[in-house]
Amino acid sequence: MDNPHYRVARLLDVQPETEDTSSYLFVLEDGGDFQFSPGQFNMLGLPGTEEAAISFSSLAVAGSGRFTHTIRRVGNVTKLIGELEIGQRVMVRGPFGHGWPIEQAVGCDVLLVAGGLGLAPLRPFLLYMLENRGQIRNLVLIFGARTPDDMIFQKDLARWQEQDEVSTIYCVDHLTRESNLRLRTGLVTRFMDGLDLDPRNTLACICGPEIMMRFVARNLALQGYRQDRIYLSMERRMRCGTAHCGHCQIGAKFVCQDGPVFSYPDIARFADTAL
Ligand SMILES: Cc1cc2nc3c(=O)[nH]c(=O)nc-3n(C[C@H](O)[C@H](O)[C@H](O)COP(=O)(O)OP(=O)(O)OC[C@H]3O[C@@H](n4cnc5c(N)ncnc54)[C@H](O)[C@@H]3O)c2cc1C
Ligand code: FES
Repeated sequence: MDNPHYRVARLLDVQPETEDTSSYLFVLEDGGDFQFSPGQFNMLGLPGTEEAAISFSSLAVAGSGRFTHTIRRVGNVTKLIGELEIGQRVMVRGPFGHGWPIEQAVGCDVLLVAGGLGLAPLRPFLLYMLENRGQIRNLVLIFGARTPDDMIFQKDLARWQEQDEVSTIYCVDHLTRESNLRLRTGLVTRFMDGLDLDPRNTLACICGPEIMMRFVARNLALQGYRQDRIYLSMERRMRCGTAHCGHCQIGAKFVCQDGPVFSYPDIARFADTAL
């Protein structure tokens, strides 16, 4: 690891989400507090491995030292985390980066658009909005996945679909089986017209594959949504997490420190490498 300033966390619980993705609840071994904001991330590692940047998928609970990461097992670190037994330990550095601009939501409509695993960093933002529902106007979540089996947080999705406090649109590319959720078929961009939102007074937060974020942001801009109120969470390979190694750079921006959440105008001008 590049930076020795890590803390040790113990695995408390694992909840399977999809075939290759699970949510892992950790607690810090030192008994200390751990404060973080929706959209920030940790660098997670195990002895002898590099580290992987992983977003928080839970809200911070003051004084608990607990946090959840929702992780797809794709490579060295994430596969080893997937093999951990309850009680085993990981090394954690963080929290890093700038998260979602929660303070800008006050008095506004809020639109969250997530694709696949992109719902993980948006989940704590949505939970925060639901806990502080009186501060914002309309709240809309659009979530798309490839198939019903690729939808993470199914219990949350079912609960949110029944709640009056948030309007939900869930869609899949392929309706491969029946679901207890009300699902539409098509890409998220197909369901973005005529939302009960004021384009001039909406905070829009998008997270998912880069191509999806590009089309969603452009669609919103064309509909007259204020571009400086559209935010996206960018993903780049990371190493130091502290704006030193340059691995995560997009133009002049360091995703690890300036992001991972950027305003659309801030990142769109690096269009060749980003959006
Ligand atoms: C801010 C941020 C937040 C993230 N949040 C999450 C999250 O919440 N959950 C989650 O599951 N993931 C998240 N990721 C993605 C995660 O960090 C990566 O998938 C990470 O690479 C996994 O590490 P690994 O060691 O398991 O996989 P790696 O061994 O790094 O391999 C991952 C994939 O990348 C490919 N790869 C390996 N080396 C390279 C290379 N040099 N260049 C390009 N591709 C390569 C591999 O073939 C494999 O397909 C996030 C990333 C960022 C930047
Ligand atoms: S990860 Fe090293 S500069 Fe961002």
